[in-house]
Amino acid sequence: MNYNKKSIEDVEVAGKRVLCRCDFNVPTKAGVITSDKRIVAALPTIQYLVSHKAKVILCSHMGKPKGEWKPELSLKVVAKRLSELLGQEVIMAEDVVGDDAKAKAAALQDGQVMLLENTRYMKGETKNDPELSKELASMADLFVNDAFGSAHRAHSSTAGVADYLPAVCGYLVQKEVSIMGKALANPERPFVAILGGAKISDKLNVINNLLEKVDTLIIGGGMAYTFLAAKGYSVGNSMLDETKIDYCKDMMAKAEAKGVKLLLPVDTVIAAAFPSPIDGPVDVKTVDADAIPDGMEGLDIGEKTRALFAEAAKNAKTVVWNGPMGVFENPTLAAGTIAVAQALADSDAITIVGGGDSAAACEQLGFADKITHISTGGGASLEFLEGLELPGIACLQDK
Ligand code: 3PG
Repeated sequence: MNYNKKSIEDVEVAGKRVLCRCDFNVPTKAGVITSDKRIVAALPTIQYLVSHKAKVILCSHMGKPKGEWKPELSLKVVAKRLSELLGQEVIMAEDVVGDDAKAKAAALQDGQVMLLENTRYMKGETKNDPELSKELASMADLFVNDAFGSAHRAHSSTAGVADYLPAVCGYLVQKEVSIMGKALANPERPFVAILGGAKISDKLNVINNLLEKVDTLIIGGGMAYTFLAAKGYSVGNSMLDETKIDYCKDMMAKAEAKGVKLLLPVDTVIAAAFPSPIDGPVDVKTVDADAIPDGMEGLDIGEKTRALFAEAAKNAKTVVWNGPMGVFENPTLAAGTIAVAQALADSDAITIVGGGDSAAACEQLGFADKITHISTGGGASLEFLEGLELPGIACLQDK
């Protein structure tokens, strides 16, 4: 895939109506934004458009309203926070492509900013309906995609609209793509990838693709137990996908054939049952990875494994991490994930954390500023690591 796309700096924006897709899909609790990271990440592009006298029409989805007008998923909270961050009014449209949005878009002055309502209030959005794409395009002269977190979605506002307007990327998409693209295409070596998370089925293609590129692949989290089972270990009640045991054997053989070091847990923190509630008390002990007793469940990597993984990260020049090492929502089972986050924070390597839980872990632990790049994309960064073409980027004009 060609990642060398035109950006906002390559086109004239002054006086133009610019439809800018952001990923304002931010977490909220009782109507209050709990992390404004994605709004902050969109600021450089919005500020550039404002200072270069564009008429800025922002849009985004939030949650999954599935074509219904759910008030709790209104972007009004985003408009409020964005206007505080920008230090100027953000005009909120009452609809997406209705009369109110169109009238407000038509009345915009140079340097003004407005925000459309949740694009997923429209049924056509997730179907990439050309009618909706045309309606969105009709309000603007130029499309800017800065929604890296949604770039893996081929929706009207992320990709379809580019059929009807000249389309370029914003600074966030440019940054995400250049840092992760370089790490994959031309990494400084040794290149180490650390994968975790519960389900191996979510990471099949990521593992396969990364084995083509890395010097060391580290597997932790729930998905490691299927690899341990593939080695012939008994994994007790640990998370196991029996249908993927052959796949794991193939991946171990591929690693060996390619001279890639594949590191699996050598010890594991076990408990008699998964904690309920997830952050509730849990009795644990640590055993070697080949000695998980029947009836016990592995829920985090053990101390020896933490040291092994940290050592690999320390000796690397590029580290990519995606997915927690254990049930990190539980303080008793968070040590493995914390150790990996700490190892990345301490490493002199280029460190890239791919979205979702691992990004949240780095932020909660206060390590965010010690990591080279924390992606704003969860699913998008995973698909990027899989080597897939992201529709929200493929639709933009090549440089
Ligand atoms: C995300 O949070 O990963 C993006 O905003 C995409 O959201 P989605 O999974 O609902 O498409």
